[in-house]
Amino acid sequence: MGKQFSDDPKAPAGGNCYACHQLTKEEVSYGTIGPSLYNFAKLRGYGEQIQRYAYGKVYNSQAFSACSSMPRFGHAGILTEDQLRHVVALLMSPESPVNK
Ligand code: HEC
Repeated sequence: MGKQFSDDPKAPAGGNCYACHQLTKEEVSYGTIGPSLYNFAKLRGYGEQIQRYAYGKVYNSQAFSACSSMPRFGHAGILTEDQLRHVVALLMSPESPVNK
């Protein structure tokens, strides 16, 4: 999901979400350029609309705000389709540490 200094350097590169977002309670090292995503779906809802929004935002953040400093992970080919799905699942699943 994201690369931290504590991650295995041989593991595939992620979206580095932690560089800008809080995501879970367990990871205490994160940047604060972006809003906290902890409890993202718990607060915003688990419905299809939020799921679509989350996918769209990660795919192309600038489709929502033209000057977003968040990378356009799908549009720019930083993450594969599979990785995008995993990231959205991370944000949206009730079982995810994000929503615990
Ligand atoms: C370089 C910093 C940066 C990185 C890296 C980054 N983001 Fe963001 N993100 C932002 C900023 C800034 C915002 C809020 C402003 C905006 O909408 O662009 C944001 C907004 C979001 C939102 C919308 C939040 C809401 O409340 O509507 C989601 C979802 C999101 N990011 C997910 C991710 C995920 C998942 C990753 C990793 C794959 C990621 N971001 C990586 C900077 C970043």
